[in-house]
Amino acid sequence: MCGIVAYLGTREATPILIEGLKRLEYRGYDSAGIAVIANGTLEVARSIGRVANLEAALSDLPDTNATLGLAHTRWATHGGVTEMNAHPHQDDRHGIAVVHNGIIENYASLKKYLQEKGHTFQSETDTEVIAMLISELYAPDEGIDLEAAVQGALREVNGAYAIAVICQSEPDTLVCARKGSPLIVGVGRGEYIVASDPSAIVAHTTQAYALDDYNVVRLSRDNIRTSTLENVEVPPKVMQLEMELDQIELGAFEHYMLKEIHEQPARIRTTMRGRIDMKEGRIVLGGLAAFHKELVRAHRLILAAQGTALHAAMIGEYLFEDLARIPTECEYASEFRYRNPIIDEGTVIVAISQSGETADTLAALTEAKERGALSLGVINVVGSTIARETDAGVYLRVGPEIGVASTKAFTGQVTVLTMMAIYLARRRHMSAERCMTLLKELEAIPDKMASLVAQDSTVRGVVEKHVDRDNWLFLGRGYNYPTALEGALKLKEISYIHAEGMPAAEMKHGPIALIDDGMPVVVIATQGSQYDKVMINIEEVRARGGHVIAVATEGDPNIEGHADDVLFVPPCPECLSPMLTVIPLQLMAYHAALIRGHDVDKPRNLAKSVTVE
Ligand code: F6R
Repeated sequence: MCGIVAYLGTREATPILIEGLKRLEYRGYDSAGIAVIANGTLEVARSIGRVANLEAALSDLPDTNATLGLAHTRWATHGGVTEMNAHPHQDDRHGIAVVHNGIIENYASLKKYLQEKGHTFQSETDTEVIAMLISELYAPDEGIDLEAAVQGALREVNGAYAIAVICQSEPDTLVCARKGSPLIVGVGRGEYIVASDPSAIVAHTTQAYALDDYNVVRLSRDNIRTSTLENVEVPPKVMQLEMELDQIELGAFEHYMLKEIHEQPARIRTTMRGRIDMKEGRIVLGGLAAFHKELVRAHRLILAAQGTALHAAMIGEYLFEDLARIPTECEYASEFRYRNPIIDEGTVIVAISQSGETADTLAALTEAKERGALSLGVINVVGSTIARETDAGVYLRVGPEIGVASTKAFTGQVTVLTMMAIYLARRRHMSAERCMTLLKELEAIPDKMASLVAQDSTVRGVVEKHVDRDNWLFLGRGYNYPTALEGALKLKEISYIHAEGMPAAEMKHGPIALIDDGMPVVVIATQGSQYDKVMINIEEVRARGGHVIAVATEGDPNIEGHADDVLFVPPCPECLSPMLTVIPLQLMAYHAALIRGHDVDKPRNLAKSVTVE
């Protein structure tokens, strides 16, 4: 949510910044802007909409050969989508420019104070107060340089921030800081590329420094200095960025979402690699080893997440209770701390997040930790904030997810939760035979996924029949109730079709009133304990004129007589079925969005990684 990139080095900054912004655009695309210091003067260009619009606006900038600059792609929070509200924001005295990701909670009182001091604001944003506050404190004649002014300003600020700051009277200095929002300092040969995530850095270097909360880093042409807000120097934390450039390229695919759907078989194999020990018939999760005893003795799990990750968590709830027999609750992370949760000894919180930066999930984690819970992470982005804040965890290893609609992260999350459930189940009560059977079935899932992504054109054919309908229902029971929620979410977020997911039985308690002639109702009707009941629900839909699209098990002899369209998935144990049934639903949403002419990878109003609460 909002992308920052900044450059200080020997090469021309502008193309590097624009390329970085394009890589970060999935974090927000309401507006974009850039500032460079050229020949001692601050030059700024901003435009609403995509980075491509900014590129066009760059013709307004003089040809600078600037080697210092910063840039931003925005997901609007405070202030509408206007050029005035686009970053970078400037002060009104010293030629200071700031880009910011996060929210300044006390911006209104700071703004009032700064206005009383004579500062004139141009925008409605919270970020502009940071620029003005730095400006107010900046006094190089009194020894308060840009670094000191940034430290001073951030001491006054409440909220979350990752910022980069430049000042035209310090043309060899870039100052950055973070608290609660991500920021990485890439260190190349004689240059630094600072960015919200590695995707804007790895084309230049894989060496980086991680910043902790409340760290300020001053980069100059021959030095790097990291300090606290109180100016106590701290040693930089060296890290190696693991992302490969081809992981973030589109390759032969038209969209990242389609690429990521198709990547699932290979990625899920990587998620499982080295973690399924078929010889011993057990799951090996090195990331949990240090807390083995506490986990085996845990008497309650809380799974906290948002959006798609929450749907994975809901499947986790079924898995942990069904397989490991541990009482488990699944929570909207955003609600967790507002209901005075009860955490006692033996409670373990599991934060589930692709990005590892979701503010709501982080807040729930912090709350649970403060109340004494052991904390685990199921995270994709290595070294992300939540990954660092948890006591232990298991990475998804599905590679960078660029499409705003989450796909491979979902199946990665479900795979990891399944492995965790089997890991605990075997150590608590599951028999060796049952465990071995499940492990074999789990290992077979990626090949089955491959057969599903190959059904792309079949799914498109079904979608074409219904894509003009504005209301859809998604129904499922048991393990596939959360899959129904996920199918509905995917359809809403990228095709803008209104869709509701619910337990199939819930339909008759109200939503059935929505069903009219031809309404598309997607029903997950795979073979399993709930099959007969789901068939009854299908008949209830058809009796009211609904058009049933069933997701059913290959070889089901009855289903075609009951549904209008059927998408088949290979057979597997019920507890593993969501990893397969979700794939036709992902493809359904993708094709609906494409046919309706929407930008599949950048749906309106959304951004990847929601770093505000
Ligand atoms: C939907 C989607 C979002 C995210 C949610 C949590 O396709 O991507 O609902 O799942 O914002 O994000 P993470 O997993 O990064 O915490």
